Amino acid sequence: MTASDLDVGPRLSLVETVRQVRAAVTTARNHGRTIGFVPTMGALHLGHISLIEAARRNGDFTIVSIFVNPTQFGPAEDFDAYPRTLDADRDSCERVGVDLLFRPMHDEVYPPGDQTPIRPGPLAETLCGPFRPGHFEGVCTVVARLFEIVQPDVAYFGQKDGQQAGIIRRMVDDARMPLRIVICPTVREPDGLAMSSRNAQLSPDDRRRALCLYQALSKGQARLLGGERSIRRIQDEMRFLVEATGGVEADYLEIVDADTLRKPAAVTGRLMIAGAIRIGTTRLIDNILVDLPASGE
Ligand code: PAJ
Repeated sequence: MTASDLDVGPRLSLVETVRQVRAAVTTARNHGRTIGFVPTMGALHLGHISLIEAARRNGDFTIVSIFVNPTQFGPAEDFDAYPRTLDADRDSCERVGVDLLFRPMHDEVYPPGDQTPIRPGPLAETLCGPFRPGHFEGVCTVVARLFEIVQPDVAYFGQKDGQQAGIIRRMVDDARMPLRIVICPTVREPDGLAMSSRNAQLSPDDRRRALCLYQALSKGQARLLGGERSIRRIQDEMRFLVEATGGVEADYLEIVDADTLRKPAAVTGRLMIAGAIRIGTTRLIDNILVDLPASGE
């Protein structure tokens, strides 16, 4: 790394090219460091910071990428409106001890003419899949490209995007990619709303409405823990709660097996209560994991 590598603080370097990342990784490895990687699309909040802190706790040389990946946005989605807050992001990274911030241009991630996408299997067909055709293919492809560039030992993802985390774990296992995936718990606002870069797009009124998603998922959780075993009944109750909130449309509110992301064969084991809502042009997702004992209730 040289002074021209956009040094921004005592430790944090901001780099933009594959060559610079590889050089920093080689140096860190030569110093016996493990490489921890947190891929993001920026507009960093405490959810992202919790992943960075997990990497720091693990003692990793911590690399954060910021890349608003066009291939995971549909034509009618918010790629242009997606928040971009590089100065604040850089300050946050510096404050929490990130070692390297990678902010690539498009062609650094996708070599010109790139034509080898990664297409996920059935895990991408449920929940958000039908509502966002091509989304998870875009996610898998960019994450695979970023893994190839950074070559991390560990990569950190959030449970907030539970389907994404499951799909990436599957991709890494299937391709025998030589790294470990760590999934960190969802970080929430004090009232329960899952932190999301997209929350910044909400007006104060819509911000209040958005809470209905967490309330519906919490209700589902309480019903399952209270002994209700009709998934259909609970899903209907969750939908009723969301639809009673004006100005909010539910894409889905479902209870699925946390591993297959499909309707569970039995209402036991690890379940995911997951939902997606739309408020105007903003789409929010969230989920809660519940572990139900095999029998006895
Ligand atoms: P982004 O939405 O920026 O999220 C980056 C990482 O932060 C993801 O692993 C996400 O699950 C995690 N995260 C977001 N909100 C969180 C919260 N409230 N609590 C805990 N973790 C949270 O997810 C993406 O970007 C992109 O799809 C990406 C993986 C970078 C590929 O482009």
